[in-house]
Amino acid sequence: MPNTILIGSQWGDEGKGKIIDVLTAQADMIVRYQGGSNAGHTVIAEGEKRVLRLVPSGILHEGKVCVIGNGVVMNPLDLIDEIEMLRSTGIECKGRLYISTRTQMVMLYHRALDKADEAARPVGKKIGTTGRGIGPAYAAKVSRTGLRCGDMLIPEFPELVREQVLETNAKLAQLNAEPLDADEMVKTYIEAAEKLRPYIIDTIPLIHKADRAGQSILLEGAQGTMLDIDFGTYPFVTSSNPTSGGACIGSGLSPRRIDRVIGVIKAYTTRVGEGPFPTEDFGEVGKTLAERGHEFGAVTGRPRRCGWFDAVVARYAQMVNGVDFWTMTKLDVMDTLPEIKICVAYELDGKRIEDMPASAAELARCKPIYETMPGWLEETSNVTSMDQLPLKAKAYVERLVELSGGRLGILSVGPARESTIRVGI
Ligand code: IMP
Repeated sequence: MPNTILIGSQWGDEGKGKIIDVLTAQADMIVRYQGGSNAGHTVIAEGEKRVLRLVPSGILHEGKVCVIGNGVVMNPLDLIDEIEMLRSTGIECKGRLYISTRTQMVMLYHRALDKADEAARPVGKKIGTTGRGIGPAYAAKVSRTGLRCGDMLIPEFPELVREQVLETNAKLAQLNAEPLDADEMVKTYIEAAEKLRPYIIDTIPLIHKADRAGQSILLEGAQGTMLDIDFGTYPFVTSSNPTSGGACIGSGLSPRRIDRVIGVIKAYTTRVGEGPFPTEDFGEVGKTLAERGHEFGAVTGRPRRCGWFDAVVARYAQMVNGVDFWTMTKLDVMDTLPEIKICVAYELDGKRIEDMPASAAELARCKPIYETMPGWLEETSNVTSMDQLPLKAKAYVERLVELSGGRLGILSVGPARESTIRVGI
């Protein structure tokens, strides 16, 4: 398999976990390049459901090497839990999981800041974060006060932690939040460093050696294009770059070594947290999609907002990421809808627009312009080839791909590995 970047094209939760799992079978190395334990990649393998937040889901496949790249913000305590959870199911990470010395860490004090900051924001200004400390950890990175995994290997580490806790306590006081116990924090992280030390290496030579040896590298994105700090619905975004450009920055693999980009796109749209969502449906359709699609956050359990497919979003994702192939997921969720709408453009202040506005305030004023197609009202989850799809379902998929640009690579009609139709890849 060529070196591949896999990205989410909407607001996250497109079903990337399953697709990464399917593609991993042909990859040698899987690299996570951004985000942190705000992500929750659900994989159903051999009938068992597992949610992975930090460890690339490639770990579920024997012999695959997994890397947590420098672009990730890694919570040592969450990672230890995940390694132990995997060990309890017979999967050993040692010797197969590597964390970059350059990876920034999310500490308990970042989590405290995230929660205090969110609580202090007035209604309308809240982001609806996952509360995992992601924003404060990336803020520390760019303000050059963050601690990196490599710091866990040096003798000064306890002092570095103490300094940061004391600095954060001053910020927490301004937000009227409780201070943290510096001694306890230092102790916690010394113990964590002991456990994680064997996994921390300089991953740049590791990735390049694999590439030079002709191995195939899969760069796995978390969240989605519309949550990108630069390209998403700012400020209602996450603090990293889930788009394909972020994959090279977050892994150290050169853009010249990337062969293709695969965009995962759900057959309808969902969003968790605050921020504009033009095709959101507050009625029966939204309810049906939520129920049939089990649209609840894998990490927070929050119900996801649901609505029709938005081709303005898809076209934008195609432009920003350079999607070669689409992987369309959860078509089966729409099996019971008698009529299906697709948003093809927006109306903004009385004018038709085809491109994504940069301003979240403008997007909030956009009204979707819909095209309507008949539903297929047949079960699709047992379908194993495009030819077996009901004609109306096939027409819907083809229309989405036509509106979005690019080609269809994979169609997914159910959560299991088997419910996957390979079309172009
Ligand atoms: P943060 O990443 O926790 O700072 O949250 C910022 C925004 O991104 C919020 O609207 C979250 O709901 C959203 N978000 C973060 N991670 C995910 C994800 O994995 N799936 C969907 N939404 C996410």
